[in-house]
Amino acid sequence: MTQPSAQSIEQLTQQATQELDRINDLESLDQWRISYLGRRGSLTNVLRGLSQLDLEQRRELGALGNQSKNLLDERLAQKTQEIDQAQQVQAFARDRIDVTMLGRPTPIGRLHPTTQIVKEITDAFVSMGFSIVEGPEVEWDHYNFEMLNIPEGHPARDMWNSMWIDYRNEAGQQPMLLRTHTSPMQARVMENTQPPIRVVVPGKCYRYEATDATHEWHFYQIEGLAVDEGITFADLKGTLYEFARRLFGEERKVRFRCDYFPFVEPGVDMSIDCFACQGGDNRCRICRGSGWIEIMGAGMVHPKVLASVGYDTEKYTGFAFGIGPERVAMLKYGIDDIRHFYTNDLRFLRQF
Ligand code: DAH
Repeated sequence: MTQPSAQSIEQLTQQATQELDRINDLESLDQWRISYLGRRGSLTNVLRGLSQLDLEQRRELGALGNQSKNLLDERLAQKTQEIDQAQQVQAFARDRIDVTMLGRPTPIGRLHPTTQIVKEITDAFVSMGFSIVEGPEVEWDHYNFEMLNIPEGHPARDMWNSMWIDYRNEAGQQPMLLRTHTSPMQARVMENTQPPIRVVVPGKCYRYEATDATHEWHFYQIEGLAVDEGITFADLKGTLYEFARRLFGEERKVRFRCDYFPFVEPGVDMSIDCFACQGGDNRCRICRGSGWIEIMGAGMVHPKVLASVGYDTEKYTGFAFGIGPERVAMLKYGIDDIRHFYTNDLRFLRQF
C-alpha cells in the first residue's frame, strides 16, 4: 500500500477526471469505476492507507481524499446520465419512423372476366336504347318453360337439362328449378309493362350438365327483348349486326341461319365471320375452317308468347335473343376452356 500524499491524491484525481472525459460508453465507464472507486480501486487504496498516518496528516489528507471521492462519484453519476441519454438519442434515430417511406401495397382486386364481358355486352345494348333488368335465379316452371311455349311433355324441354328444386306452392303446383336460361324474364317483363319494351337481362343460369371445355353446369346468359308496334326481322338483324361490330370490330360480317327455339318464330342462330383466319384454315382454333362462329340464338317473339301475357298480337311484334357471355369472352380472348372462368385460378383471372 502506497503512502498517500496530497500530491498523489491530486494527481490521481486529475488523472481520473481526464480519463473520464474521454469515456463515452457504459462498459468503459464501469471499468473506470472499478479501477478508481472499486474495492481495489486506486482511490479506495489511498483512502484505506490514511489509517496508517498520524492524526494530523490523517485529518488533512482525509478531507482531501473525501473531496476527491465525492468529486469522482459525482462525475461518475453525471457521466452515466450523459451516456444513457446519448444512447437513447441514437436508438431513437435508428428506430424513428420514416414518414416518406412507402406503405405496404394493398392488393387491389379487379372485375371477374365474366363481369367485364357482361358489362361490355350490356353497354353496347344500353347505348342502343335498351335498359338492364335482372330476375330470379330460382324460377317457376311456369316462367322457365310454360310461358315460353314449352308445355309439359314438350320434346323441346330436353334442350335444357334442368336442376329441380323440391318445392311447390300452397296449391301444390308449379315445380321450381334453377333457371336454365334468362329467357323467363321475357314473360316477367312483359307481364309488368306495356310496349315499347327494350331490355337486356344478364344473369346466372344452371343446367344439369357434365362439364367439359364448352359446358359448365352454371354460366351466364344475356337475354334481349324488344317489343313494339311494327318491329320486323330487319330490326333484329340491324340491332344484332351493330352489336357484333361494336364487340368484334367494324369490319365484321354476320350470318343468320334458321334454328329452332319454341319461343320464337322464325328462330335463328347468328354467326360472325371468323376474325382469326379468313376461313378455310382447318387448323383455325376458333372456327375450325368454317369461317363462321356462332355467337347467339335469336328470333321474332312467338305470337303465343305475346298472347300469353295478354298482348294484342295484331298490334305488337318483337324480337328476342340470347347470348352466352363466356362464349363471347372465349372467342374474343382466345380462351380454350369454359371451366377456367370458375376455378378461381389467379393465374387465369389476373390476365383480364
Ligand atoms: N334461351 C335460349 C337458350 O338458352 C337462348 C335463346 C335463343 C334466347 C333464342 C332467345 C332466343 O331469346 O330468341 O338456349
